[in-house]
Amino acid sequence: MAATGELTVRPVRPADRDRIIELTRDVWDGHDYIPRVFDEWITDAGAAFQAAELDGVVVGLHRMRPYASGLIWYEGLRVATPHRRQGIARAMLESAIAEARQQGFREMRLATGNPDAVRLFEANGFRRLIDVRWWRGMRVEGGEPARMPDPAEAKKLWPAIATSPGLELYGGVTADFNNARDLGPDELERLAQTGMLRVGPGGKAVAGLRDAWGRNLAVGFIAGSGAPLRELLMALRFEADSDGLDNTTISVPRGHPAAEDLRASGYDLANAEDTAYIYGLIL
Ligand SMILES: CC(C)(COP(=O)(O)OP(=O)(O)OC[C@H]1O[C@@H](n2cnc3c(N)ncnc32)[C@H](O)[C@@H]1OP(=O)(O)O)[C@@H](O)C(=O)NCCC(=O)NCCS
Repeated sequence: MAATGELTVRPVRPADRDRIIELTRDVWDGHDYIPRVFDEWITDAGAAFQAAELDGVVVGLHRMRPYASGLIWYEGLRVATPHRRQGIARAMLESAIAEARQQGFREMRLATGNPDAVRLFEANGFRRLIDVRWWRGMRVEGGEPARMPDPAEAKKLWPAIATSPGLELYGGVTADFNNARDLGPDELERLAQTGMLRVGPGGKAVAGLRDAWGRNLAVGFIAGSGAPLRELLMALRFEADSDGLDNTTISVPRGHPAAEDLRASGYDLANAEDTAYIYGLIL
């Protein structure tokens, strides 16, 4: 076993670029996103992008990013293939948790689909908040996109949707793989402020958008059921079309009762085979 006692964790520097690109080459069959975001991450003073160095060589990386009051996101954990199973990821995660605690954050959250990483996070006390499925509905021409409520109205929608069947399966957070925020009236207001909330007939169904990764309208949570939800689900497909996007992709927890409404509104499961989870650790 490598002497993890010699492992040092320090900020990533511009000169680490080539080594980090090399290190990520065999992650996800060469489709790792780290090379794409490296320049942005290295200049982002609001987050801590760190490298683990062993005997002068970068062998691991990760990033901690504050994203909402009291919340810090953990992402980009990578360990170079020849150095795996030597406790490096565990040491890096422990150092991240200690730093976040010291800085007074309330909770650390992350997203992962990797079963090896799941073992690591669960062993360190992280709780699974959501087991996410993606449902995809192709764009449809000719209908009206859903209404965008104003922030004051948005906040008042919460009591009516808080008891929607399946809302508890979101584990209290939005199913956003970049920023899982607390799900509640304040989040409805915040989404409305940025034009990211959609409401169905009579305020009985809502959809919170998230930043998309591809050419789709991306939804981080839905609430409501039956006819109002179906109308909203269709309106989101019309919106994808009027925005010139390919489809609408909705993150919905596994086993959510909206599955029937999604199917009836022309949506299919897009990640039937994969696993995708959001975890949280109260600090
Ligand atoms: C996941 C990853 C970061 C683990 O790094 P690592 O330094 O090898 O992990 P550690 O040696 O600290 O292992 C800690 C624990 O994680 C789990 N684990 C890690 N790799 C594993 C594997 N290949 N198989 C099973 N469990 C594994 C084990 O529980 C392990 O504890 P143990 O060794 O006592 O059994 C590394 O495999 C990697 O970079 N993978 C590709 C990128 C990725 O998926 N990152 C996670 C995204 S959130």
